Amino acid sequence: MPGIVIVGAQWGDEGKGKATDLLGSRIDYVVKFNGGNNAGHTVVIGDEKYALHLLPSGILTEGVVPVIGNGVVIDLEVLFEELDALSARGVDISKLKISANAHIIAPYHRTIDKVTERFLGKRQIGTTGRGIGPAYADKINRVGIRIQDLFDESILRQKVEGALFQKNQLLLKVYNRRAITVDEIVTELLSYADRVAPMVCDTALELNSALERGQNVLFEGGQATMLDVDHGTYPFVTSSSATAGGASTGSGVGPTRIDRVIGIAKAYITRVGAGPFPTELFDEWGDFLVEHGGEFGTTTGRRRRPGWYDAPIARYASRVNGLTDIVLTKLDVLTGLERIPVCVAYDVDGRRFDEVPVSQSDFHHAKPIYEEFPGWSEDITGARSFEELPKNAQDYVLALEQMSGTRISAIGVGPGRDAIIVRHDLVG
Ligand code: GDP
Ligand code: IMO
Ligand code: MG
Repeated sequence: MPGIVIVGAQWGDEGKGKATDLLGSRIDYVVKFNGGNNAGHTVVIGDEKYALHLLPSGILTEGVVPVIGNGVVIDLEVLFEELDALSARGVDISKLKISANAHIIAPYHRTIDKVTERFLGKRQIGTTGRGIGPAYADKINRVGIRIQDLFDESILRQKVEGALFQKNQLLLKVYNRRAITVDEIVTELLSYADRVAPMVCDTALELNSALERGQNVLFEGGQATMLDVDHGTYPFVTSSSATAGGASTGSGVGPTRIDRVIGIAKAYITRVGAGPFPTELFDEWGDFLVEHGGEFGTTTGRRRRPGWYDAPIARYASRVNGLTDIVLTKLDVLTGLERIPVCVAYDVDGRRFDEVPVSQSDFHHAKPIYEEFPGWSEDITGARSFEELPKNAQDYVLALEQMSGTRISAIGVGPGRDAIIVRHDLVG
């Protein structure tokens, strides 16, 4: 006791990094269980700002053992760049453990990600271009390269040959690119082998033993519910399991050992990349949210698409993740709005939907039905208890709680580590 999962309840960038950091001091292990360096978590500690991509946010907390689980795809060049940058800033990186079964993002995955997007034209997903989709495709297609393959050159060579066989046909004949040689890939991958070797272990064994000893393990999800390959707005999703179930498959810890599932939700919503988004704003209110919330991607710098809070999505996230708690972030960003609309249901060509429609066509056509709440103008960034919030802010939170189907256990009122109101303990 306990195993705690953190997942994004919307389309990403909800403040998962900050939430992980918040719990950090009471946690023994933080495991990243899905995705790769498509994630971007900004954590603000005092005057210092850290941007993490591939590494779990828990690496910033002294004493925590950071783990990259088997469900993650690893770009080794990025791994060492990120480690070196943190180390140069005085962060202890020596405890990092990496699953022997995690898959590797090879240079050809990045190439294929970019050319595929280009060729999709209008239908493109707007990926981060990090090679995430092609690396997971190879994993499922059983031609992936795993971390443990780095330690047996002859196996590595065979696997790279297998992976490149079809890809070179594709690159040459379909995309008109140059072929990639087995040698260049094997040489590059082997150049990381010695440095990564001491970090590699059976992370599932390590994590299960930790839980047996009574230690606290936090499973940190990248991306979010609506970007999950099964439960998100397919095909406008990422290629991994970003919902709570992914914490088990992506770490090798069974669902019976998970005690809490915490969904992180902004007090409004943003989305990066293409795909449906019913509450999206194209007016000055959208600009207000982007400006006040600093809504530019941590990974690609893209302007995030802004929109009002969507209660059916919160209920959907509560359901498919089995949320026990919500951490509502960025409430402070709404300060200064006279009225705050919240989507309570959708209108689809004259039909009312109280829940997220299962049909993609219906969701694409969904128009939000709004209920408006009165705003507040007082600065709330210094509030540290619920009672210190203005009455209208309290009522807004209580209304979201009632509509979202899960209790709101903490409320973010600023980017800093301590800018949070805790209503219910998240670890105990
Ligand atoms: P993640 O990908 O879910 O970890 O989120 P990102 O780091 O991509 O984006 C969240 C951004 O919001 C970061 O810049 C955080 O520093 C910031 N942030 C988190 N919580 C709050 C909050 O309560 N208020 C404000 N103003 N900013 C916050
Ligand atoms: P964090 O962990 C927001 C989006 C991309 C694109 C789609 C697929 O910071 O919340 P991919 O490169 O994963 O194949 O792109 O998913 N996307 C994210 N959007 N936050 C993220 O991560 C994201 N990771 C991927 O913009 O639409
Ligand atoms: Mg992010």
